[in-house]
Amino acid sequence: MMFSADRSYAESLDAADELAAFRDRFIRPDHELIYLDGNSLGPLPFRTQARIAEVVDQDWGVGLVRSWDSWIELPRQAGEMVAEHLVGAAPGQVLVCDSVTINLYKLACAALDVQAGQGRNVIITDDDNFPTDRYVLEGVAAQRGAELRLVHTDMDHGISEQALAAALDDRVALVSLSHVAYRSGALADMARLTERIHAAGAFALWDLCHSVGSVPVELDASGADLAIGCTYKYVNAGPGAPAFLYVRGELQERLRQPIWGWFSQRDQFGMGPSYDPAPGIDQFLTGTPNIIGTVAVEEGARLLGEAGIAKLREKGVALTSYLVALADDWLAPLGFALASPREAERRGAHVSLRHDDAWQISQALIREKVVGDYRTPDRVRLGPVPITTRFIDIWDAMDKLRRIAADRSYEDIPADQARVT
Ligand SMILES: Cc1ncc(COP(=O)(O)O)c(C=O)c1O
Repeated sequence: MMFSADRSYAESLDAADELAAFRDRFIRPDHELIYLDGNSLGPLPFRTQARIAEVVDQDWGVGLVRSWDSWIELPRQAGEMVAEHLVGAAPGQVLVCDSVTINLYKLACAALDVQAGQGRNVIITDDDNFPTDRYVLEGVAAQRGAELRLVHTDMDHGISEQALAAALDDRVALVSLSHVAYRSGALADMARLTERIHAAGAFALWDLCHSVGSVPVELDASGADLAIGCTYKYVNAGPGAPAFLYVRGELQERLRQPIWGWFSQRDQFGMGPSYDPAPGIDQFLTGTPNIIGTVAVEEGARLLGEAGIAKLREKGVALTSYLVALADDWLAPLGFALASPREAERRGAHVSLRHDDAWQISQALIREKVVGDYRTPDRVRLGPVPITTRFIDIWDAMDKLRRIAADRSYEDIPADQARVT
């Protein structure tokens, strides 16, 4: 089918969409709402709502503390679901636990400590990485007397292999990068960059927050050492649902994470006098897991597995390509510029558009029931949800966006940004 800016073209794409039926697996109380913020907080699947109710009413309400016999396995169980369906990892390498921030701290410390023995004390990340990543790595470096080296990255195009290569040397212990950039959606070549990082003798740690559930990730095949990712975006597990971590099998016995909690103790209920880490991936647990959040991760990953990550990627590419084509046609003359890679294979499932009045425009869009978000310094960020978004949603959203920009109906919105953007 040749691209056309007519709405009927979007309808024909929807008619051919193999994933269309999955939309009805999600709660949609407001049928007029167009939701383009799946890369911030994913929608709620019916099955997840029912499973949470079951856990609350039965497991907690009736079973009480007896339910720990099954709950205790959940971080591993949900981890295997993420590993198998979403991140290309063989069993025994992924856990669902803690937050992204905490898991990054755990894995960065573990990597740095083992490399310190080899005289390596430099951490590399890029200056446009997500704030929590930069701050945690800054803190880890400060606490351990290490150096944090920031590679300059183009905000719209993502990390450059040459810039990374220039920063690598034999003092580098760890390189920590985002697979998909939070602002632009730029997709890094994980296998290629990991190879570079390994050639310099460093560990590669990948933040998968914006790729898990929208882009196929091959942790084992790419040789990644460590990874972290969240579950409240494309995995649709809900606000504050626990994150996941990956530690490559052969590294698990070499690394020692810094938070020695009882859930990572070999004989947890032996209540022994001192810490003796559990073998394998269990060493990377800390304390009591959030059970309600963890079952939501399990259900979210199962549902994405049913749709298939390859099909979700195909649809993500089609949705964002369509969005970019409409933006070129309609929005470029109204002061917008694409702030994401133009080539579909170089971006994840979201797109950013630059405009001088991006904050007010993003708020005006929400007023018109099109929910995207704003990112500094001047981006409207639009993140379709591949499992639920229709092509007509993209058409309708872009149509509203061009009207708002053309008649400047956003000008009554205060230019001061709210606390949450
Ligand atoms: C790339 C990236 N890393 C980390 C986080 C957040 O980490 P946490 O879940 O610990 O708040 C986000 C949140 O949007 C993110 O986009």
